[in-house]
Amino acid sequence: MLVTVFLLLVALCGHRGNGEEMEEAQRPGHVSVIIVGGTGDLAKKYLWQGFFQLYVNQVSSGNSFSFYGGGLLPSEKGLPVFFEILKAVSCSKNVSQERCAVLKEQFLRLSQYRQLKTLEDYQELAKHIEQQLQQEGMTEAGRLFYLSVPAFAYADIAEKVNSSCRPASGAWLRVVLEKPFGHDYRSAQVLASQLGDSLKEEEMYRIDHYLGKQVVSKILPFRTENRKCLDPIWNRHHIQRIEIVLKETLDVKGRIPFYDQYGVIRDVLQNHLTEVMTLLTMKLPENVSNSEEVLQKKLEIFSSLLPLGKNQAVIGQYKTYKEEVQQELNKTKDHVSRTPTFAAVLAHIDDNQYEDVPILLISGKMLDERIGYARILFKNDVFCLQNHKSIHCKPKQIVFYFGHGSLSYPAILVSKNLFKPAMTNSKWKEVTEHKDVSVLGLHISDYYVQTPTEEKEAYAELISQIFAGRKNCFISTENLLASWDLWTPLLSSLTSSFPRIYPGGADNGDMLDVHLKGKDISYNTEVVIINSDKMGGASADNFKVTQGKFRSSDMVSGWNEELVEMLAAHMQEAAETAIQESGVFHLALSGGSTPLALYYRLAVHHFSFPWRNTHVWLVDERCVPPTEQESNFYRVHENLLKHVRIPYYNIHPMPVQLNQRLCVEEDGGALLYEKELSKYVNGSSFHFVLLGVGYDGHTASLFPGAKVDQHGKSLVALTESPTKPHQRMSLTFSAINRAHKVALLVMGKGKHELVTQLSRVKDIPDKYPVTGVKPAHGSLVWYIDYDALLG
Ligand code: BG6
Repeated sequence: MLVTVFLLLVALCGHRGNGEEMEEAQRPGHVSVIIVGGTGDLAKKYLWQGFFQLYVNQVSSGNSFSFYGGGLLPSEKGLPVFFEILKAVSCSKNVSQERCAVLKEQFLRLSQYRQLKTLEDYQELAKHIEQQLQQEGMTEAGRLFYLSVPAFAYADIAEKVNSSCRPASGAWLRVVLEKPFGHDYRSAQVLASQLGDSLKEEEMYRIDHYLGKQVVSKILPFRTENRKCLDPIWNRHHIQRIEIVLKETLDVKGRIPFYDQYGVIRDVLQNHLTEVMTLLTMKLPENVSNSEEVLQKKLEIFSSLLPLGKNQAVIGQYKTYKEEVQQELNKTKDHVSRTPTFAAVLAHIDDNQYEDVPILLISGKMLDERIGYARILFKNDVFCLQNHKSIHCKPKQIVFYFGHGSLSYPAILVSKNLFKPAMTNSKWKEVTEHKDVSVLGLHISDYYVQTPTEEKEAYAELISQIFAGRKNCFISTENLLASWDLWTPLLSSLTSSFPRIYPGGADNGDMLDVHLKGKDISYNTEVVIINSDKMGGASADNFKVTQGKFRSSDMVSGWNEELVEMLAAHMQEAAETAIQESGVFHLALSGGSTPLALYYRLAVHHFSFPWRNTHVWLVDERCVPPTEQESNFYRVHENLLKHVRIPYYNIHPMPVQLNQRLCVEEDGGALLYEKELSKYVNGSSFHFVLLGVGYDGHTASLFPGAKVDQHGKSLVALTESPTKPHQRMSLTFSAINRAHKVALLVMGKGKHELVTQLSRVKDIPDKYPVTGVKPAHGSLVWYIDYDALLG
């Protein structure tokens, strides 16, 4: 009978996983819960309470339990600490005192401390579990390992669990992991692959405790239940802005060894706020209970997010952080950390639904109040002539209020000028009696308010999901890597940035207010950066763009971003001049990764670029279909063309694919391009040619070893590259050297050695093809960033 009730409960729970997960969850039996790091902070604060809650809920489900607190300390030392923690667990209000006392007593009896350090410790644990199962004649349902330890220990523990603690077939193994899951894309990938050697994807439960918050886990059901009202307005025509904010008042004292390596972006934005953003913007799955579908839809959003660069973020650091770091890390007084404790990031989704809708992600320590929320602010095009207090003139918004702040309880608030949200779930209720508070600019009485009938701790919620084998509240490997893929470039671009120093608390005033302009974000007020000379010895002068000479031609140099900014501005100037003179601008663009930042800058900053009169040509192309990422055209398209309003007949990709084959001489692709070029471009002289240079000194697809004059007067040729894909199509020196302007862009430390060599050698195009770039009547300018120039 009890078993039947349990099965029924599982079946009724909305968020079912795939078939396998269901089967596992349905099989009652003995469950061993092992918290590795069982006497640590997290375990003390949340985990044991969460597992006690699970025990209380499951005590009559047909399952039996053993709980193990694992630690590095030997038993005699670990045991007293462990039992102190367990004694503090409590029951929810609906359990009577007597029953609670009995349950606690049982829970304590079922729990034990074990030293878990060596492989032998894990082997002994496994032996112990098996003996217990045998002695008591129990069937095993599964083993749940919760790794509440620093991430560097994960791979090793996972290996020990895999080699010695797997249950017999038929029972499940679930291993729960806490962030940080790496500190950038690479390290996350390494960790994922190490874990993948020991555990199957379905056995891993990566926790993001925000997904266990009641309001956060209600986002998708809310969007589904109110689909009728939301569908027409959940798009760029109606949404003015999305804000996802976590403000905290505390500092990070005591956590500095961890925090100083991570900072607020890795600690909060990359995970918690990103997860909320995906829930708000993903396409609604047909079935919100289908884990696979939910995870798939989440992934789709990642692929539509525009890349984040330095102009999409501002960072800050609270004033006393510096001293905290000096103290906790034992550093001298002149040690300065650039780790941000505050960040505001502006994201955009590049699709029809959300194009141009600003998505703000903000979090910080030592701010004026503790509050977490996501707000969808809608455009309001009603103008009230007289009655400004009318609800119709007030902000139209939906607020997913995670907790704290003026309201102090979790809630979903819908402003009354939108619609009355559906109430379909008995675990939520409508609030009609309010205290006198305002939430984000509206009095509480101007909202329809929904709140959970019973407040639940996120960890307890997630623990019950793990127990039921439901995966949609956890982070899959793909999801994790997609998130790092988004954040890593931003993090790298910020390494040389100085955070704005803020005093902390209410004194921050308007210092951290931000200003959104197009796709960029900046602080709203100018503040002189204090002591910038003390921060790593850099001074403002170091950031200037400078002019000079390189190989007897003009050279512009600067740090990466500033250089790109300058080149983009020069390109626009060239375009405007050409159009003024001849009504058209012919621009030839290179492939490779160096110019992508430039293309993107042109796309998101140069809104007045005269694209309508610009023709875009390719300098060279790899012989691959244009749909492949390796294709130069594909990259130019993804980073530039698809973002700007350029007529499609002004775009001239190289015809590498003809007659359903790639770069076959007799198909005459090179000749075709040459003809097209001669037809459109006056005298076949491009107004502007953008070139790069490879590590071996090649430029366009003209490689060392090939004779310079081998192409004669041809403007376009098929060439051979020493690296894959070997076949290429390229403009020849004849075409390049006819141009009015040629820009040679060289960036990154990796090019330093080459730049040094180039500064010394004469013109030897056979060895260093780039030295063959010598516009006959036009100009050549080198754009070299400080990394490449100075190493
Ligand atoms: C944690 C971060 O993941 O989330 C902390 O490491 C942060 O720095 C915390 O304070 C916020 O969580 P909550 O539940 O308090 O909003």
